[in-house]
Amino acid sequence: MKILIIGSGGREHAIGWKFKNQNPEVQLYFASGNGGTAQIGENVNLNSHSELISFAKEQSIDLTFVGPEQPLAEGLVDAFQAENLKIFGANEQAAQLESSKVFAKQFMQKYGVKTATSHEYKHWVDARDFIESHETFPIVIKASGLAAGKGVLICYDKTEAEMAIKELMLDKKLGSAGEQIVIEEFLEGFECSILSIFNGKTIVPFISAKDHKKIGEGEKGLNTGGMGVVAPNPLFTEEHFAQFQTDILEPTLSGLLTENMQFAGIIFFGLMVTTNGMYLLEYNMRLGDPETQAVLPLMESNFLTHITDAIEGENFEIQWKKQHSVCVVMVSGGYPNVFDKGFTIKGLEQISELAFIAGAQFSNGVYKTSGGRVLNVVATANSLAEAREKAYQNVSKIHFDYEYYRKDIGI
Ligand code: AMP
Ligand code: GLY
Repeated sequence: MKILIIGSGGREHAIGWKFKNQNPEVQLYFASGNGGTAQIGENVNLNSHSELISFAKEQSIDLTFVGPEQPLAEGLVDAFQAENLKIFGANEQAAQLESSKVFAKQFMQKYGVKTATSHEYKHWVDARDFIESHETFPIVIKASGLAAGKGVLICYDKTEAEMAIKELMLDKKLGSAGEQIVIEEFLEGFECSILSIFNGKTIVPFISAKDHKKIGEGEKGLNTGGMGVVAPNPLFTEEHFAQFQTDILEPTLSGLLTENMQFAGIIFFGLMVTTNGMYLLEYNMRLGDPETQAVLPLMESNFLTHITDAIEGENFEIQWKKQHSVCVVMVSGGYPNVFDKGFTIKGLEQISELAFIAGAQFSNGVYKTSGGRVLNVVATANSLAEAREKAYQNVSKIHFDYEYYRKDIGI
């Protein structure tokens, strides 16, 4: 079986590793991949939809798996399907659940998915009038479009909120992503990520995960693409899971079916658990990064079989190892702002656990850093404490200039 994986981060390395680990006979291609994916498959430099389609036809690719959100939002799945090529991921219509927060909030409200109270604005004056008459802070201001994690601003007073809407709507700091905004109530609680597979009829959820989003220890400082993950989420109980099913998953499913959103792909639920119950912060229509790197190593049943079953509209059950997983992200010093690249990574050959490459290239026998998030060290064990210890033992063997990582993942 020949599989094409779209994307070039640690998530795509982990997806490819899982496919190959459970099905050694598969042949993997990555567009465009990175230094890690080059070890388990072939990296191909393809960009446009037509290049990808031609490649899939010429190479007789049996399955294409879309990693990131952008190609989904741009209708890559529809384009492949129009050519009768097998592909896994949300179509353009359903991808709006991630690519338009206005669309997603309207969907949640229409189908009774519990979510923060919100207002949507197309015109700056209307948003400004709302802020001027608003008294309770903090408040959350979100760019509606895709903004690579930069689109959510938590504003602690009127001045900050006015500045935020001005930057988004007038100065267009995030381009067209901020032309429409959502202003919503600030929720306090703990966050939880739940990934799932949708087969067009049912949603099969994964185990829970806890993402550590901030650059600094103790959840301080700037937001990042993710500095570490623990799975399952230690705060998320069986009762929470039951609540997730009734308050979030079931109404989502009923919405998808009523709106006839037919696709086989991922739905990622970003949850906030508060003392007033569970709220959906967002949908993503792709696997989380770095959640995937922590969660897939715990999947006992065959991930690839689940994907092909979902495409056929078959039902399936996922089996999980009764273990814990910790993923520590090593980043380039300076990330998420400016950082230098091109440093040699040493010690990778000495580690005993998984290391997924996120931002590094491999040439002449060495890995060199090429991005902000460089690699993901993942360890699994029977207890969270043991997984954590193993992960950090391995992190301490890996070195590159200006390396940085958080030391409190899983505490
Ligand atoms: P989102 O892209 O909507 O998931 O938001 C990114 C991050 O912003 C979330 O992971 C939360 O940490 C935070 N956030 C989003 N919405 C809210 C909210 N209503 N209240 C508090 N924090 C929020
Ligand atoms: N780790 C959060 C995300 O992938 O959006």
